[in-house]
Amino acid sequence: MSEIWVLWPLIFTSIAGPLSKGDNAHVADSNSEMLKLSKNITKRESCDEGLYREHGFCCQPCPPGKRKNDGCKIDGGEPECVLCAEGEEYTDKNHHSYNCRRCRVCDGEHGLEVEKNCTRTQNTKCRCKPNFFCNVSLCEHCNPCTTCEHGIIEKCTPTSNTKCREAFQSTGSRSNLHSLWALLILIPISALIYREVKRRRRNRKNGHQKSIASNTEMMPVNLTDIDLVKHIISIAEQMKITEVKEFVRKNGMEETKIDEIKHDNPQDTAEQKVQLLRNWYQSHGKKDAYCTLIKSLRKAKLHALAEKIQDIVQKDITSEHENANLQNENESLA
Ligand SMILES: *[C@@H]1O[C@H](CO)[C@@H](O)[C@H](O)[C@H]1NC(C)=O
Ligand SMILES: *[C@@H]1O[C@H](CO)[C@@H](O)[C@H](O)[C@H]1NC(C)=O
Ligand SMILES: *[C@@H]1O[C@H](CO)[C@@H](O)[C@H](O)[C@H]1NC(C)=O
Repeated sequence: MSEIWVLWPLIFTSIAGPLSKGDNAHVADSNSEMLKLSKNITKRESCDEGLYREHGFCCQPCPPGKRKNDGCKIDGGEPECVLCAEGEEYTDKNHHSYNCRRCRVCDGEHGLEVEKNCTRTQNTKCRCKPNFFCNVSLCEHCNPCTTCEHGIIEKCTPTSNTKCREAFQSTGSRSNLHSLWALLILIPISALIYREVKRRRRNRKNGHQKSIASNTEMMPVNLTDIDLVKHIISIAEQMKITEVKEFVRKNGMEETKIDEIKHDNPQDTAEQKVQLLRNWYQSHGKKDAYCTLIKSLRKAKLHALAEKIQDIVQKDITSEHENANLQNENESLA
């Protein structure tokens, strides 16, 4: 009997020893398991720079000239990339999109022609057709060069219009008659414009509060179809990326297109905003685009933003008017 009591500690250690050791080992194991798991999770949430997360893997991008056909199968792996359709599509950067971009078409009706054909890695380059010019930096269409009645001072170039000699600089009674007509017409017109500009300035000063409420109804007819191209960058600067996305989404841009633009410009929200707005504007067309933008923003209760954008556009137009006005005054003085 006493032998058993002596044996007890022995039995205990021989059973419990390995058991507790096993327990400890188990705990240590699950600890490192947890660590691995959490490492995997953090790995899954953010990839190294330039890589892109898809189905839990961080994938390499596809090179220019190709598009993704299937995601990668291991971390850091290359996805399956296939060529863009030559002459129809291109990609000009590393990217993660399943689509190539459509090549630009140089629209002859807008005074454009092909300067460089589209390749798989470069978009079409357009230029103005002969006798057309375009003097803005983001050129979407070219205007026909002015033909001069009284002689040329400077020839038309692809980036600047013809400079014509003024009617009254040439001699002859016919042109004197012309300048008389011009004076008779220009004086009342410039007086009208001058008054209008003054009135608007006064309104802007006095009735700022009032104009916030009634601006959409008061939007002058000539503003509805304003060309937004040259304003897009400054508009984009005023808007947050979420506001831009919300706006294009509500106004007919497809989710895949939005994603594509996002993926094509990773980490560059400024460029994303510009591309989103430009894309929307291109597919919407000039007609009513400005109104749609302003109305949408107001509907989304972004009154201050709408106001700011209207101010920017208005300022440009007013200064154009004033320039035209000044020119007219000069001409009528001359
Ligand atoms: C973590 O990911 C690797 C592959 O990326 C995998 O082999 C491993 O089993 C994962 N570990 C856990 C705990 O999920
Ligand atoms: C572009 O390609 C077309 C045929 O695909 C060809 O007729 C034209 O000359 C090319 N233009 C230039 C500028 O290379
Ligand atoms: C562009 O050309 C038009 C027409 O000749 C002219 O009214 C306008 O002032 C020009 N703009 C610039 C930036 O040169």
